[in-house]
Amino acid sequence: MKGIVVAGGLGSRLYPVTAVFSKHLLPIYDKPMIYYPLSVLMLANIREILIICTQNDLPLYKNLLGDGSRFGISLTYMVQEKPAGIPQALIIGEKFIGKDTVCMILGDNIFYGHDFSTYLQDASQLKDGALTFGYQVKDPSRFGVINFDNQGNVIEIEEKPSKPKSNIAVTGLYFYDNDCVNISKTLKPSKRGELEITDLNKTYLRENKLDCKILGRGFSWLDTGTHESLLLASQFVQIIEERTGTKIACLEEIALNNKWISMSEIRRNNKDFVSGNYYNYLKELTK
Ligand code: G1P
Repeated sequence: MKGIVVAGGLGSRLYPVTAVFSKHLLPIYDKPMIYYPLSVLMLANIREILIICTQNDLPLYKNLLGDGSRFGISLTYMVQEKPAGIPQALIIGEKFIGKDTVCMILGDNIFYGHDFSTYLQDASQLKDGALTFGYQVKDPSRFGVINFDNQGNVIEIEEKPSKPKSNIAVTGLYFYDNDCVNISKTLKPSKRGELEITDLNKTYLRENKLDCKILGRGFSWLDTGTHESLLLASQFVQIIEERTGTKIACLEEIALNNKWISMSEIRRNNKDFVSGNYYNYLKELTK
């Protein structure tokens, strides 16, 4: 399975903090936002990852993450010229995807919860159809919304409905079979002029191939599209990290646990840094 992080878009709701670079490079407490979706793909055991970003941000991502070898992964970068919708990432990434299945995650989505890696590793076994994750929210009309029958089967999915029929939002984490590329090519832009991920998911639903797993109440899914939610996400990460002494989305730690890199590689790659909370964590980790 291949991984894609969708980090294009203008982040216009966050202007002026996004005036010179994308929101996915902004800090969420102690690390850049993009570390969080990358960590999800790594927890799913996915090592070949494509980052889709704007032309302007491409050199910044390369400076930050390089070829990914520091984290035991292989990173490819491609440009989305204009914000033309999430499924466009699958069309841009066609060659990268090849004949594989895909896990796509939105670059501004943060997930945290017990046993999440088991969920992810199960999902990464997908061979046929599509799998999404649902999460109960107070304001479903801001999201894709999913409705179920009494047996828990998905019966409907709507993008930002004004009168949502459930309070279950579709999170920005999607697992697809290889058909997703060709289906995306058949989609027509919506009223906001973009290809909609909900339209791709609706195609799978019509073929009875759309599954949705609910992330329950003990789980946290945060988005970071406004100044308020950005600050709340930072505070959330700070609280968990200070309370537990463990870090969320420490890419070196995940790579070490997955046995993709060694302690001496981490020490070598970070020898130019001598202080700071993230560095100290790596130092402890590699003692
Ligand atoms: C997008 C999707 C929506 C999904 C959301 C998750 O919304 O269109 O279906 O629920 O991501 O973050 P957008 O970020 O384009 O508003």
